[in-house]
Amino acid sequence: MDAVMLVGGQGTRLRPLTMSAPKPMLPVAGVPVTAHMLARARDAGITRVVLATSYRAEVFEEHFGDGSGHGLELEYVTETEPLGTGGAIRNVASRLRSGADEPVVIFNGDILSGLDIGALVERHITADAAVTLHLTRVEDPRAFGVVPTDPAGRVTAFLEKTPDPPTNLINAGCYVFRRSLIDTIPAGRPVSVERETFPSLLAAGVPVVGYPDDTYWLDLGTPAAFVLGSRDLVTGRMPSSALPGPVGDRLVLPGSTVATDAKIGGGSTIGAGASVGTGARIDGSVLFDRASVGAGAYVRDSVVGREAVIGNGVVLENVVIGDGAVIEPGNELRAGARVFPGAVLGAGAVRFSSDRA
Ligand code: GDD
Ligand code: MG
Repeated sequence: MDAVMLVGGQGTRLRPLTMSAPKPMLPVAGVPVTAHMLARARDAGITRVVLATSYRAEVFEEHFGDGSGHGLELEYVTETEPLGTGGAIRNVASRLRSGADEPVVIFNGDILSGLDIGALVERHITADAAVTLHLTRVEDPRAFGVVPTDPAGRVTAFLEKTPDPPTNLINAGCYVFRRSLIDTIPAGRPVSVERETFPSLLAAGVPVVGYPDDTYWLDLGTPAAFVLGSRDLVTGRMPSSALPGPVGDRLVLPGSTVATDAKIGGGSTIGAGASVGTGARIDGSVLFDRASVGAGAYVRDSVVGREAVIGNGVVLENVVIGDGAVIEPGNELRAGARVFPGAVLGAGAVRFSSDRA
C-alpha cells in the first residue's frame, strides 16, 4: 500500500526553530518527527512512502535517503511553489502505484499519534468510502478542522479553523483516499484539501467517513506542543519504535557531556554533543545537538536550539532559544519568550518574570 506524507509547510508557529529546519525535521526525542511517523507507517505494513516536500525540501532526502535504513522505500516530490495540502497530494499522483480503487494513506507530517493505521484502512474498505478521516477529540477545536458526523459515522461537514465549532471532534491529519479521487483534485495550482477538496466532496454527496479514536494524539505545531510531544515520547506515553534509547525520565544522546550532579528529568532530551554544567537542572525540555547549558542554570519546558549557549545560572522557563543564540549569565526568560538564531543576550539583559509582569 502506498502512503503520502505532507511535509512542505513552513511551520510558522514554531519560529524561530523552523528558520533552520522544517517542522517535520525538528528532533523530538532525538529523531525528526517524520522518523517517528515513518516508523509507525512501516510497523503498520506500509512499504513505500512518497514525501511531498516544499519548504527546505533538500534536508529530507539528505536525512532519509532512499529509506532503506528505515525499512521503507521513500520517494520525494518537491513543489516549485507551495501547492497547499490538496495541491501537494495531487502533485504526487503520478508516483502512486495503487490501482484506481485501492486506498492511499495520507499523513500530515507534524503529528504524533497512536492511531492503528491498519484499522483506519479497514474502516475505509468496509464502509466503501471515497475518503476516510482519522478523527480525534480536543478540548479547544478552533485551531483545527472540525468534523461533525452523523450517527453512522458519515462526515456531514468539514469546517477548517472555525471560531464557533459545533463539535470537538477534529480532523486528526491522517486520511485514506480512494486512489482515483486524487486525480480529481485540480492540478498545477494551490489547493487546500481542508478548505476546498473536503467541502466540495461533501457537497457532491461523495461518501466521506470518519474514524474517531481516542489513542494518543498531538499536533506539534506550537512550542508548547513540541516540548510536550518530545516528553511523551521519552517517557513512553507515546510509543515509538524510532526512539533512539530506552524509555525513561530522560533521553541523553551519545556524545553529550552531563555533569554528575546535574538534574535532568521530566522527559527531557539532551542532544548529541550537548553539554550540561554542574548543578544545572533541566526539566521537561529539549536541548538540540551541541547546545550547552552552564553551571547552575535552570531550564524548564523549553527548547534550546543547536549550538545555543546558555550561561551559568540562567533561568529559562517555557521559552524557545534559536540555534546558535547566546544567553549570557544573569538572564531570566519566561512565558513564551523566543530568541532568534544567533542572537546574543548580554549579561543581565532580560529579567522577565511572569509573576512580576
Ligand atoms: N507539500 C506540502 N505543501 N505540504 C504542506 C503544504 C504545502 O504547501 N502546506 C502544509 N503542508 C503540510 C505541513 O508540513 C503539515 O505536515 C501538514 O501539511 C498540515 O499543515 P499544518 O500547517 O500543520 O496545518 P494545521 O496543523 O494548521 O492544520 C491541519 O492539521 C490539523 C491536525 O493537526 C489541518 O489538516 C486541520 O484540518 C487538522 O485538524
Ligand atoms: Mg499541524
